[in-house]
Amino acid sequence: MPITFNDFKDTASDILNINLSGYKLKRVQRRTESLMRRHNIADYDECLRLLKNDPSFKEAYLSHFTINTSEFYRNPENFRYLEDKLLPEIFKNNSSVKIWSAPCSNGSEPYTLALILSESNYKKYQILASDLDPDILNTAKAGVYGSNSLENVPTGVFDKYFTLDQNSNKKYILSEKIKKQVAFEKMDLINDPFLKGWDLILSRNFFIYLTNEIKDMLCHKFSSVLKPGGYLFLGNTEFIFNPQKYGLEKVYSSFYRKL
Ligand SMILES: C[S@@+](CC[C@H](N)C(=O)[O-])C[C@H]1O[C@@H](n2cnc3c(N)ncnc32)[C@H](O)[C@@H]1O
Repeated sequence: MPITFNDFKDTASDILNINLSGYKLKRVQRRTESLMRRHNIADYDECLRLLKNDPSFKEAYLSHFTINTSEFYRNPENFRYLEDKLLPEIFKNNSSVKIWSAPCSNGSEPYTLALILSESNYKKYQILASDLDPDILNTAKAGVYGSNSLENVPTGVFDKYFTLDQNSNKKYILSEKIKKQVAFEKMDLINDPFLKGWDLILSRNFFIYLTNEIKDMLCHKFSSVLKPGGYLFLGNTEFIFNPQKYGLEKVYSSFYRKL
């Protein structure tokens, strides 16, 4: 008898070294089955065999399962609030500021921060950006983007920091000055330990994929590594219903302050 999705998910978690049970399972199943259709894979047994034996299929599964969609200045009104209200306060209260984009996908998010900080002439900050997917981290490090990622970049900023890629004609290369401000690291936010002492953590468009138990665990984990007075910045459709439970208070749509 062919194995069920439930069995598949447990063995696939071991092969991929990711806890698939932490994600909304209906979605994981849909993503798995759409990839199986695309590769003409008959059942979960065959899918597991390929995950075990074919490194390129394993990579394809990982990329398909982790949605990498991102863009510069995603939800611009929130970046405006951050720039106008929170960054001046954060820099006033700290001689050196630590920011973490987790997960960072193709780098649009941490580079947006580097652009904002450079344009505002802030000094003394570090930006760490992490993601589970090694391929998307390579894309992020390359810093080359299509116009669909760049629609919200203010014109003056675009003209100053992006140049047309002569090789592709439709892509734009981010300046070294911005690229070198972001350090990238592979990290599994569900399983890996977190570094401490952050003034600002961006964890946007990630909670939407997770079960309530894992979201709860991550709210505790993020709060425990924020400095008092530091901020957690979530995606536009993500909420913490009971922020006090985690030692956080909501200050604005998508922003929570560590008490
Ligand atoms: C939709 S992107 C969000 C990117 C960015 N924060 C934004 O809002 O534009 C979600 C990212 O989560 C990453 N991801 C999925 N599971 C992860 C995990 N367990 N640990 C770290 N990153 C993970 C994926 O690789 C993907 O790049």
